[in-house]
Amino acid sequence: MFYWRSVLIYALLNVCSSNDSKIKNASKPVRLFTDEELQRYDGSEDGQPIYMAIKGVVFDVTTGKEFYKKGAPYNALVGKDSTRAVAKMSLDPADLTHDTTGLTESQLQSLEKIFTGTYKTKYPVVGYTSRRLLNEDGSPNKDFKPEDQPQFSIKDEF
Ligand code: HEM
Repeated sequence: MFYWRSVLIYALLNVCSSNDSKIKNASKPVRLFTDEELQRYDGSEDGQPIYMAIKGVVFDVTTGKEFYKKGAPYNALVGKDSTRAVAKMSLDPADLTHDTTGLTESQLQSLEKIFTGTYKTKYPVVGYTSRRLLNEDGSPNKDFKPEDQPQFSIKDEF
């Protein structure tokens, strides 16, 4: 009797915990960041997480704070989408933007290498920039088709 009760409790616990983990996976939140929200994570406050976006993907780069915190060499890149700066290896304020207009083939290749080899390897993704999905007025951007945008690849999407 005692044995069967233990088996039953064990089985129930298993069912509950496997359901729990399924629910956790299913409800993993995707956060969208406006420019203003992303700017809050620019490393200016000690103890706050530091975020940076490349190609509209927002990474938590807090573990790289020796690069990114206030006064660190790449602090200019954080709190925003710095796709162009990373592609051109430039810290020129004019390049601190998501805009990839006019980048050369080799700059796009370099961007891809750093995006995959450094950021996707080293840092967790915490969300996406809203610009990718929303118009300026906040309405959904119905024309947004990741597959039409050569600088994005489908696997980087949701
Ligand atoms: C004199 C020029 C530069 C030197 C000597 C230099 C050197 C370095 C070094 C030693 C690393 C660290 C590699 C590691 O420990 O993993 C690094 C990483 C990096 N550098 Fe530079 N760098 C220079 C300029 C730039 C510029 C202008 C940019 C502009 C975007 C840039 C962007 C980066 C990025 C994004 C990383 C990766 C940081 C990370 O792992 O989170 N670098 N650089």
